[in-house]
Amino acid sequence: MLDSKDKGADDQFLSDVIQGLSQTQKTLAPKYFYDATGSALFDKICALDEYYPTRTEVGLLSDRAGEIAELVDGQHLIEFGSGSSVKIRILLNAAKGLTSYVPVDISREHLFGAAESISKDYPNLDVIPVCADFTRSFDLPDIVDQGAKAGFFPGSTIGNFSRNEAHDFLAMAAGMLGDGGGLVIGVDLKKDPEILKAAYNDQQGVTADFNLNLLARINRELSGTFDLDSFAHDARYVEDKGRVEMHLVSLKEQVVSVDGKPFAFQKDESIHTENSHKYDIDEFHQIGRETGFEPDRTWTDKNNLFSVHYLKVAA
Ligand code: AVJ
Repeated sequence: MLDSKDKGADDQFLSDVIQGLSQTQKTLAPKYFYDATGSALFDKICALDEYYPTRTEVGLLSDRAGEIAELVDGQHLIEFGSGSSVKIRILLNAAKGLTSYVPVDISREHLFGAAESISKDYPNLDVIPVCADFTRSFDLPDIVDQGAKAGFFPGSTIGNFSRNEAHDFLAMAAGMLGDGGGLVIGVDLKKDPEILKAAYNDQQGVTADFNLNLLARINRELSGTFDLDSFAHDARYVEDKGRVEMHLVSLKEQVVSVDGKPFAFQKDESIHTENSHKYDIDEFHQIGRETGFEPDRTWTDKNNLFSVHYLKVAA
């Protein structure tokens, strides 16, 4: 098992939270949504009527599984942020000649549970989990040094990155995948803002619970004193930035402490918890070209809601 976190996970969480809440625009990183409760809430989001990305991407991957399998077969398959490794099964069912599957995830419990269940279901596949925060640089297991490497980065997780960070990530991925490699990546598309607003403000309030769970997690793990009834979920599409922003808005003036450190909130002051960037296909291809890839295939649904790309590492 490889573990490239230099600090303990809890220390990193605490120092990121303290740092984020100390800024003028208070911020918390979306990667911290995914404790056990947050992961379960995210799975519920994925099944919501309003949340089109998951079902649209799964439809695309299923329809194109044979074609994608041909592109990645015979290679090592590295998944960035594998979570519960659900979508990968669509590819594993179609690509029978993969050399190994390397799921990379920050959440240890998720990672090992998922790796074990994949190993069981695909007994001929070498499964080598790597516990790492793939937003920082990390080491791949030696076994993938031999042979070509394909990356898998579904879910429009790249949308959490700023456009600059997406650039840096793709350049890192191109370098890591190397000659003969390629990246299968899911990217959410720009569209009517009303569709986006509905997707991030669902009727049942699951997205609100998902957002608020971050405060509950801080209470549980970092001795936080957030009163969840004093914060409200807010999701808006910011047109000029091409992204949905999620915030937690303080409903009153209040002081909250985390690990004994006090943080003051004005009424209506927000904590910015997530960005979900949306792309045009041309814009995304351009970023691919700027980061060492050649856009090779692009698949979209008939309503142009979501895209899956195969970016080839440029020779
Ligand atoms: C997992 C980052 C792709 O941005 O749509 C869903 C997370 N946040 N609903 C997204 C999310 C609120 C999701 N990503």
